[in-house]
Amino acid sequence: MLIKKPTDIRPSEITSKTNYLNRREFIRAGSIASAATMAGPAVGAIVPDARREKIDGIGTSRFSTDETLNIYDDIVTYNNYYEFGTGKGDPYKNAQKFRSRPWSITVDGEAEKIGTYHFEDFIKPFDLEERIYRMRCVEAWSMVIPWVGISLADVIKHLQPNSKARYVAFETLHDPSQMPGQRRRSLNWPYREGLTIEEATNPLTIFAVGIYGEVLPNQNGAPIRLIVPWKYGFKGIKSIVRMSFVEKRPKTSWNMAASNEYGFFANVNPEVNHPRWSQARERRIGSGLFARKQATLMFNGYGEQVAHLYEGIDLRRNF
Ligand code: MTE
Repeated sequence: MLIKKPTDIRPSEITSKTNYLNRREFIRAGSIASAATMAGPAVGAIVPDARREKIDGIGTSRFSTDETLNIYDDIVTYNNYYEFGTGKGDPYKNAQKFRSRPWSITVDGEAEKIGTYHFEDFIKPFDLEERIYRMRCVEAWSMVIPWVGISLADVIKHLQPNSKARYVAFETLHDPSQMPGQRRRSLNWPYREGLTIEEATNPLTIFAVGIYGEVLPNQNGAPIRLIVPWKYGFKGIKSIVRMSFVEKRPKTSWNMAASNEYGFFANVNPEVNHPRWSQARERRIGSGLFARKQATLMFNGYGEQVAHLYEGIDLRRNF
């Protein structure tokens, strides 16, 4: 993956910390809608109001962190979405006209309820929750993002996989007419990801459909993307059109591109460096150009919930 040079850092990243929305203020504000407004005047400028849509009926989660949130503008303008270009600002620029509705998701493989579902029907049976998670990119930057999502464990239970379903594979839409990055071979399209069934059904894993209490912007993976907070961000596949229950470990895009650099597990691990850079520390986006990098936590700080999944596995070899 590309690493950002200091000259690429946008002015919004050097905004003072006082401008950032704090989790406690956010709760005090009483509602997600007012929180989005509190994030500052630039909020409305980034995604046109006509495309911003509030989501109702969102519950809270015991898994949320109370760390300072990244502001909305950072989350929606500093992205990795190679289908829309490899620059951090490309997805924001190039995904505005992407048609993320109507949308359908095909479920296939080793499960009872296979079929093609309208997005709205697919998510309808499940409770929407706000999940404030740290996101650690393999490129050594991080953010804290208030996702709105549904539990993947609930989705999987509903789809009734059988005992052959040892992995869940996911695919992004393949449509070069809408996704200019797919006209180049920056990756082997469509973008693919996968999890073991135990990882997929861990209570932390979600399908996100929103951020800051609003519908997910295109550049963040509308209408539905995966979030696995203890893994590097590239596991969080965007704009999912297929979910397959399979017996064998599925092929995944970054692993296919460079298997010595990007493993299947991709658990955040400060002790296993990327061959080209250290993973010991990370730059929190928005903390300022001259801020010290902070220590990266094992499993991105989610070890209590997930370390048991990897007992007996050598995480240096299985990275
Ligand atoms: N999903 C698809 N389809 N294409 C991508 O290029 N990039 C991944 C992941 N999901 C990517 C993707 C990477 S490298 C990261 S760090 C996260 O999305 C970034 O998510 P964000 O842009 O919402 O912060």
